[in-house]
Amino acid sequence: MRGDILKQAPRFVLVLALSWGWAACGSDSTAPPPESGPTPFSFNLDGLPDAEAFLPASNPTTVEGVALGRRLFYDQRLSGDETQSCGSCHQQAFAFTDGGRRFSLGIDGIEGTTNAPAIINALYIPDLFWDGRSATLEEQALEPVPNPIEMHVEWDVAVARLQADEELVDDFESAFGTRTVTKELVVRAIAQFERTLVSNNSRFDKYVRGELELTPQELRGFDRYKFENEGDCFHCHALGGLFTHNVFANNGLDADPDPGRFANTGDEFDMGKFRAPTLRNIEVTGPYMHDGRFDTLEQVLDHYGGGMQDGPNFDSKLFLHLTQGRTFSTQAKADIIAFLKTLTDEEFLTNPDFADPNEK
Ligand code: HEC
Ligand code: HEC
Repeated sequence: MRGDILKQAPRFVLVLALSWGWAACGSDSTAPPPESGPTPFSFNLDGLPDAEAFLPASNPTTVEGVALGRRLFYDQRLSGDETQSCGSCHQQAFAFTDGGRRFSLGIDGIEGTTNAPAIINALYIPDLFWDGRSATLEEQALEPVPNPIEMHVEWDVAVARLQADEELVDDFESAFGTRTVTKELVVRAIAQFERTLVSNNSRFDKYVRGELELTPQELRGFDRYKFENEGDCFHCHALGGLFTHNVFANNGLDADPDPGRFANTGDEFDMGKFRAPTLRNIEVTGPYMHDGRFDTLEQVLDHYGGGMQDGPNFDSKLFLHLTQGRTFSTQAKADIIAFLKTLTDEEFLTNPDFADPNEK
């Protein structure tokens, strides 16, 4: 084991199983009571800070709930003209980003203004969306369905379509003990599925577990990533574990930045701050930043080395690098990028449990 190379040392496979007592929640009186409740879902959070996982007691993750949530995540009936699902903009092969697109297109062909974020280890994200305006995955999932530039359908209409599907209603019954479909249950199921999108089996994770060696270049990149007088990336994109501290920061994209978290809180102190995303699977999630302005990781490094702009709330951890005019050599960039690519988790990108069940 090489747990000692990281501050948050992954040590063992932790299987979290929530104790689950069946609670009859407003079940349809015509439906026979279920024999037993759904089965608790077992998480493998090896290498991740298990104590920080957000698993709300109000929506326990169950095998049946996850299976239903997966169907709903890929269900086009949740959009006005039944052409778009959550999975249209959040595609597994791209770590649940939108297939290299800078801005996603909604069903009416209208472009959004932010880049679709990855959905990776989202059970750890305390404030969702680039500006942190949503506190839970359940709350988040309510938004895209009626959003006029996304799926654009009234929830009542979408729910009625699902209610008419007997087979799907059976799945609601297995997951929640009721045959009455509601938007609250739809988003609870989707959130359960999203919580299972755990990535912790990249080459880097295998290196930490002592299962393989990294190349000399990848190891050099790792050093540069963590040395304060070099990349100094780890203050916001944690070293190991989640590869993010989920902090909101202004990383100097513009002197007059987009409002970011300010739009959500109205606090001047939040002007220009965005949530620092995880760097896991970063190889496949481009283009980068909240507005997808950078196509390549090389451009990202050109930003951090020479391209940053001072502005409101520009982060103090980057300030010295700005004033000292840090730049990265071609070699340094190549090394850091080689390291970042060790965070690609092929198993996550191809896990059949995360794929569209209709395409099996
Ligand atoms: C038209 C494309 C599109 C569709 C359809 C879509 N999303 Fe998104 N999603 C986005 C964009 C763009 C953002 C970023 C919005 C922002 O933060 O300003 C986002 C943000 C998110 C986030 C927040 C991730 C984070 O790191 O903060 C989650 C979770 C998410 N979407 C899940 C879903 C679910 C669940 C559905 C289906 C109910 C869905 N999305 C449908 C484009 C889409
Ligand atoms: C002060 C905190 C901070 C430091 C230090 C920092 N970043 Fe970031 N990083 C951020 C924030 C905040 C964002 C999101 C900014 C936005 O989209 O507006 C970001 C975004 C990124 C993205 C794009 C992620 C995506 O999904 O689009 C990459 C790649 C990245 N950083 C790599 C690095 C590397 C490599 C380093 C070290 C050279 C580094 N960062 C140092 C805060 C930081």
